[in-house]
Amino acid sequence: MEQKDKGSRVIVIGTGFVGSSYAYALLNQEVVDELVLLDLNKEKAEGDAMDLNHGMPFGSPMKIWAGTYADCKEADLVVITAGANQGPGETRLDLIEKNAKIFKGIVEAVMSSGFNGIFIIATNPVDILSYATWKFSGLPMNRVIGSGTILDTARFRFLIGQYFNVDSRNVHAYIMGEHGDTELPVWSHADIGGKPVLSYSNIDMKQLDEIFINVRDAAYHIIERKGATYYGIAMGLVRLTKAILRNENSVLTISTLLQGEYGLDDVYLGVPAIINRQGVREILDLKLSNEEHDKLHHSASVLKEATKPVHD
Ligand code: 2OP
Repeated sequence: MEQKDKGSRVIVIGTGFVGSSYAYALLNQEVVDELVLLDLNKEKAEGDAMDLNHGMPFGSPMKIWAGTYADCKEADLVVITAGANQGPGETRLDLIEKNAKIFKGIVEAVMSSGFNGIFIIATNPVDILSYATWKFSGLPMNRVIGSGTILDTARFRFLIGQYFNVDSRNVHAYIMGEHGDTELPVWSHADIGGKPVLSYSNIDMKQLDEIFINVRDAAYHIIERKGATYYGIAMGLVRLTKAILRNENSVLTISTLLQGEYGLDDVYLGVPAIINRQGVREILDLKLSNEEHDKLHHSASVLKEATKPVHD
């Protein structure tokens, strides 16, 4: 294990498509000082570290190496992307059995290094595996964060931006709930530069519904075409990493433990939250429409049911 010099250290566990795209995006965006890659296939992690290091003269200096769990001791962030991903036609919830098993081993290995930082979980089903990581690690809930609906929210903002021909950065809108089939669009709080989407006189609700369906089913459409999704989620993970390490107090839709917010508890799901160096500083408890509230509760009940195997 290398001693940490100073500055920030991120460990990526799982250097498949998502993990390696995240590493590449971190290098390009100059976010961290040390990046450690871990994979069951050590040669893959080594190859990725070599390949990324060769890009260093085109970027800015940082340290990248293929490491071991011992490196987690000095880490600020451990980002888990390891596990099986969806095949064509498979739902995210179909992956529970395969991925919950490997998570126990991973989280225990990280914790036995003496790790005392923040976990980001990206593996699906992300809400369930974030809950499992919180349980397995014994860390406070604010330090176990799932990528949740961060990507769905980005897809939503992108498509709304296209519909209204506006820069997606000026679209404020959230997808909440499960990162998966029961997620919901929060139209009641969607606005463009402060103007509520629902206040536009020429909107066609059918087209807005189509936007949401395209968001909800985006992963299926991409997986049908190229077998996996990774660039979008990788950029979402970098965004979350920056919000944490730079103590940004940014609002992002991540998966976190609800403890009374939205009338729900003991479930991890996607909600807007303020993220800083402590992890989740605060959950934004928005006033939802009755329909949105019911859909969020439905999503939570599906997730609670699916989380049962983690309790056993
Ligand atoms: C995605 O939404 C598959 O969860 C992944 O792209």
